[in-house]
Amino acid sequence: MKTEEFVRQRLEGYDSGHDWWHIVRVRKLALFINEMESLADPFEVDIAALLHDTVDSKFAVRDTDEGYQLIRNFMDSCGMSDLQEKVLNAIKNVSFSSKNRKENPDDSLLWIIQDADRLDAIGAIGIARAFNYGGFRNNKIYDPNIINTENGEKEFSKQGATSTISHFYEKLLLLKSGMNTPTAKRLAEERHEFLELFLKQFYREWNFNI
Ligand code: ADP
Ligand code: NI
Repeated sequence: MKTEEFVRQRLEGYDSGHDWWHIVRVRKLALFINEMESLADPFEVDIAALLHDTVDSKFAVRDTDEGYQLIRNFMDSCGMSDLQEKVLNAIKNVSFSSKNRKENPDDSLLWIIQDADRLDAIGAIGIARAFNYGGFRNNKIYDPNIINTENGEKEFSKQGATSTISHFYEKLLLLKSGMNTPTAKRLAEERHEFLELFLKQFYREWNFNI
């Protein structure tokens, strides 16, 4: 499939938490959520899931407008011009907080892709991706001087110092409550519990006393 080829090429140079296999997992999750919820055309879900990370300002060398233009050109060249706006709406907003957006008729596609992407950021895979990203950025795994509170987002960013464990509190533990669809909420439960179990064990080992 032409889209797969385009995506593989666009993802070159990303960290391995954002690699092709992230796309494969998100695609599978998105198609499953859509099957359960019957919200969108499965072909549209497939294309949006495939393309959802091809413009990432954290990694892409080109600026984002140029990235979106590449997607438009690609979709035009494959006869997918009619899907362009819907798919771009999903891709552009997938990592934004839904609270800041007005309802839009094309949003069902966005809700699905956002849920799938968020599910891949929690659970065992989410933990693996977080430590992989932290390693890529040369961050500490943990800094006991940073006090972790349940929703201490702001405190962390003010401190400047960050660790991968603090990323759990800044983002990962908050994702469960941000799921859009009932299916994703259900899938998030087990993955969220696993984050909590991991943290419990992590602190147990960190605070080891003979
Ligand atoms: P999204 O896929 O929603 O755009 P990001 O691009 O922010 O998410 O993150 C991609 C992956 O890297 C996710 O698994 C996320 O948890 C992880 N990640 C992002 N920022 C950090 C960080 N500061 N420390 C550890 N992991 C991070
Ligand atoms: Ni993603």
